[in-house]
Amino acid sequence: MQVIRQYIEEHKQRMLDELFDLLRFPSVSADPKYKADVLKTADYTAAKLREAGADNVEVCQTAGYPIVYGEKIIDSTKPTVLVYGHYDVQPPDPLELWETPPFEPTVRDGKIYARGACDDKGQFYMHVKAFELMMQTNTLPCNIKFMIEGEEEVGSNNLGIFVKGNRERLKADVVLISDTSMLSMETPSLETGLRGLSYLEVEVTGPNRDLHSGVYGGAVANPATILSKMIASLHDENNHITIPGFYDDVVELKDSEKDALNSAPYNEDEYKKDLGIDEVWGEKGYSTFERTGTRPTLEVNGIWSGYIGEGAKTVLPSKANAKISMRLVPNQGSDKITQLFTEHFSRIAPPYVKVKVTPHHGGEPVVTPTDSVAYQAAQKAITEAFGVEPVPTRGGGSIPIVALFEAELGVKTVLMGFGLDSDALHSPNEKYDIFNYYKGIETIPLFYKNFAALS
Ligand code: BES
Ligand code: MN
Ligand code: MN
Repeated sequence: MQVIRQYIEEHKQRMLDELFDLLRFPSVSADPKYKADVLKTADYTAAKLREAGADNVEVCQTAGYPIVYGEKIIDSTKPTVLVYGHYDVQPPDPLELWETPPFEPTVRDGKIYARGACDDKGQFYMHVKAFELMMQTNTLPCNIKFMIEGEEEVGSNNLGIFVKGNRERLKADVVLISDTSMLSMETPSLETGLRGLSYLEVEVTGPNRDLHSGVYGGAVANPATILSKMIASLHDENNHITIPGFYDDVVELKDSEKDALNSAPYNEDEYKKDLGIDEVWGEKGYSTFERTGTRPTLEVNGIWSGYIGEGAKTVLPSKANAKISMRLVPNQGSDKITQLFTEHFSRIAPPYVKVKVTPHHGGEPVVTPTDSVAYQAAQKAITEAFGVEPVPTRGGGSIPIVALFEAELGVKTVLMGFGLDSDALHSPNEKYDIFNYYKGIETIPLFYKNFAALS
């Protein structure tokens, strides 16, 4: 521990400066206008892995954005850890809500404000620096492989192909990922599950063109009204989802599992205050942690129709659209849910409109084991670094690759995230606490030490 803390102390400023350089690349995978920047970010990541001491570093081309690979094999009889992260980020919009520009990292009150500060540049870069630390202090006790991708925020479509084609190269005893949240720095936690995802877009079409809303209004169905009604009907009065068969494969938690989940500290007043809401909302009969961690949901992620520019325009729109996603829990399958949604949405469409459903991407839910050597190593590392034992939680977000690693490589994952839910991931003013960044760099070598010792 002394060695670790001393190394971090001596290299503090450089470790932060390098993260800032990484954050300055606008590596938005969703928007093609950033293509050159995304590619530069891959090159920067590869260069930093090389500098830290990784061998066989490669920017692996895919049909989309490249995957950065690097490794250090110290002894083939020792266990191997595969570190996964992503160098792409979410779009920064709406730009006007950022206090400082999203790609000019700025420190305020001990926190780094920038798109990707927490999700996931700040977090995956801790692994690069922890690796450097272990190389420089001669304390790397395991083999290590890095796989940092550039399409996580758009569904990791090319990663599956890469994993299938590189089974031998990616062979490992555990996958280690820092791309999730902790409850707080005082109550560290380890996520033991992630929800799956089924993402799609719907289009409702009424008349064959936009109409004068005075000339035709009242005689022709308005697609915006119809779409709103259709969407509203997807939840009943108890906030259950109304799609037939939607819950068929959902596994109810045992009471003991529910109790464990609900024993984590939760202050509803603080929760509401942080979000500026007067009441929480959700499926009847479930607590907030159960709602986000163990229950499937359906959310409208975007909705548009008609005139949304300055001033007013009296128009009866021809079309109305929405982006809708459903979060899935074990043992739901994203293809099946996408199909159930598509059938249901087409069925409930009234005869005045036509409906088109276009699937985007999906990912499968996972539960990660808590009785594995790797989980215990993470538990112990956090206990040593934080002075408190971590609480197991279920994450509400999705990382599609986790289920894929399990299916394709037969390797389980440890989700050792250091973010906070309040870090504003995907929102304006995303941040990451400098304290968490260094704490992560301190905890990761302890994970390796414990994993090697327990293996
Ligand atoms: N890092 C997040 C997922 C996450 C965040 C998990 C917080 C647990 C806690 C990841 O980058 C992400 O945003 N994933 C997407 C899914 C993807 C397919 C677009 C998500 O969850 O919406
Ligand atoms: Mn992420
Ligand atoms: Mn994300």
